Amino acid sequence: MAKAVELLHTKGLTASNFTGQDFLTISDFHSTEIMYLLKQAIKLKKEQKLGVTHKHLNGKVLGMIFDKASTRTRVSFEVGIVQLGGNPIYLNTKDTQLGRGESVADTAKVLSRYVDAVMIRTFAHNTIEEFAAHADIPVINGLTDLHHPTQVMADLMTILEHKGRLKGLKLCYVGDGNNNMTHSLLEGAAKVGMDIAVASPFGYEPNQMIRDHAKLVAKQNGSSVIITNSADEAIQDADVVVTDVWASMGEEDEFEARVEAFKPYQVNSKLCEKAKDDFMFMHCLPAHRGEEVTAEILDGPHSVVFDEAENRLHAQKAIMLALMEEN
Ligand code: CP
Ligand code: NVA
Repeated sequence: MAKAVELLHTKGLTASNFTGQDFLTISDFHSTEIMYLLKQAIKLKKEQKLGVTHKHLNGKVLGMIFDKASTRTRVSFEVGIVQLGGNPIYLNTKDTQLGRGESVADTAKVLSRYVDAVMIRTFAHNTIEEFAAHADIPVINGLTDLHHPTQVMADLMTILEHKGRLKGLKLCYVGDGNNNMTHSLLEGAAKVGMDIAVASPFGYEPNQMIRDHAKLVAKQNGSSVIITNSADEAIQDADVVVTDVWASMGEEDEFEARVEAFKPYQVNSKLCEKAKDDFMFMHCLPAHRGEEVTAEILDGPHSVVFDEAENRLHAQKAIMLALMEEN
């Protein structure tokens, strides 16, 4: 761990560049802004380990709306806002008037009068876009069916910590190509100049618009995007190997059909022989040992999944500070 982090061009950027903005997808931000946030996250982590605290969000309140289950996202946002001097309010949609049909727009307008930012975990991505369009406060995406950007910020931070750089590395994702993790990884890798190869079964490839856009951005940043049905091809010489569940939240009914399609896409020792000797294995968690990944890999020496989970806290503190701090 703790390799020297590459010097990156983020000169001139400060938290004030982000104040009041939403954090809905990685592609909403410039490469230098992503790098700035990653560097801030690493700095906050180091400071926290040294006992240095920042109460810059003293008195601020983060509303947290959950339409789906969560362990990491909920706890890391709650702990993060408290560590920065603020307070969280947890709202399970079912317990609010949203759950009884109050409109997203009215809810956004009302919450804007009470809290300083809102984090939302929901199903359709356009729900969070609609919320953000009607809110006067920053809105943070804590996972939609289409994107999981705060997870991918933690993932990029973890790679940067372990490898000391991002640009020029190859990330391989094997599994469900048409889910939130893959889409945010495509956007994130392209932004920071990492090569990314996604291998998924026929019919489970990434969203066409997201992959086309990622290809364009990757080209601008000197990297490449490969979408394939061959796990062997995708993993060849990979520095980072990533997978995720075969059925995401909301897709539970499709599980049986998906298992058949995804079986050849399990991340196991045999497949990983084709990655670089020092490859890192990542998974956003929760994981299903014996399905998308074997226990041998998930609990093995290449796995950094618990650093990755920890880094949700630090990456999100950097994001909250940037969006919510008054300058
Ligand atoms: N990785 C992740 O978002 O975990 P939770 O579903 O536990 O929040
Ligand atoms: N793709 C998974 C990620 C969970 C954090 C899901 O949406 O369920």
